[in-house]
Amino acid sequence: MPQRPVAIITGASSGIGRATALAYARKGYAVVLAARRAGALAEVAAACGLAGGTGLPVPTDVTDAAQVNALVARAVEAFGRVDVMVNNAGFGVHALVHQISDEQMRRAMAVNFYGVLYGCRAVVPVMQAARRGHIFNVSSVIGKRGSPYNGAYCAAKFAVSGLTESLRVEMIDWHIRVTLVCPGMTATEFFDHVDGGDRTHESSFRGVRGRMSPDVVARRIVAVTGRKTPELVFSRGGRFLIYIATRWPRLADKLMKFYYDDLKRIDEGAGNSPAGRI
Ligand SMILES: NC(=O)c1ccc[n+]([C@@H]2O[C@H](COP(=O)([O-])OP(=O)(O)OC[C@H]3O[C@@H](n4cnc5c(N)ncnc54)[C@H](OP(=O)(O)O)[C@@H]3O)[C@@H](O)[C@H]2O)c1
Repeated sequence: MPQRPVAIITGASSGIGRATALAYARKGYAVVLAARRAGALAEVAAACGLAGGTGLPVPTDVTDAAQVNALVARAVEAFGRVDVMVNNAGFGVHALVHQISDEQMRRAMAVNFYGVLYGCRAVVPVMQAARRGHIFNVSSVIGKRGSPYNGAYCAAKFAVSGLTESLRVEMIDWHIRVTLVCPGMTATEFFDHVDGGDRTHESSFRGVRGRMSPDVVARRIVAVTGRKTPELVFSRGGRFLIYIATRWPRLADKLMKFYYDDLKRIDEGAGNSPAGRI
């Protein structure tokens, strides 16, 4: 029986990671599932089996390099190869830049950036030995254009975008593909886990409509696997914002100011001052 291709996915217990795991499973992959919640991972692993693949849950905190190394080692031990790594684990921070605490910034970087770096560091030698593989690093539309209230998150996601562009060129001679994934607003648990300090951050996101399904992101990731695709941006709005941000940054600022004013109005309606904690 031919060996199944193998994908490791971080943040696989919910949202985009879960949808991507199932999409690979439907293609017959063995999917190695990483996140902190063991119970949710076991459920996703069972669903991968039903979808036609194999799911191996490996509870992992991506902020710990030793755990991420052990995750990749477990995949190699179980299946003998790694074809795809999706560095997807992440969470949001909602705070005005001048009010970001050290702890919020440290945590934003630990999960959203260092988690991705540790994933790349662990999997690159395995893929180099095979001279093939595909690494997907999940950033965001606002990892390409900064957005108010999201300074800590944007900083971490911009770091992911830069790291990924560097890695893409370094991997060319090894035939390893590297793709930056930039979702826009996606309907997942993400908004339940935003670290908003003392503000009613959930209310601030109420104004944002048209969240896409995580299945849209998952299907595109699987569809481009093995191809030279530098970047995935999913919505017309996202592509438009990135386009004008590079060519007409002042126009992008004006558009972002509408968004900022909208959030301020919602926050004020919820009893928060726009300046947050003062
Ligand atoms: N939803 C959006 O609108 C949107 C837009 C742009 C980009 N993104 C990005 O897409 C990625 C996936 O987010 P999502 O929307 O699918 O949100 P989600 O449903 O909240 O999923 C986040 C995943 O990350 C995992 N995670 C968080 N901290 C972790 C840690 N320290 N170690 C290991 N796993 C950890 C969570 O699992 P556990 O809690 O079990 O650890 C969960 O599986 C994130 O990088 C996010 O920044 C999302």
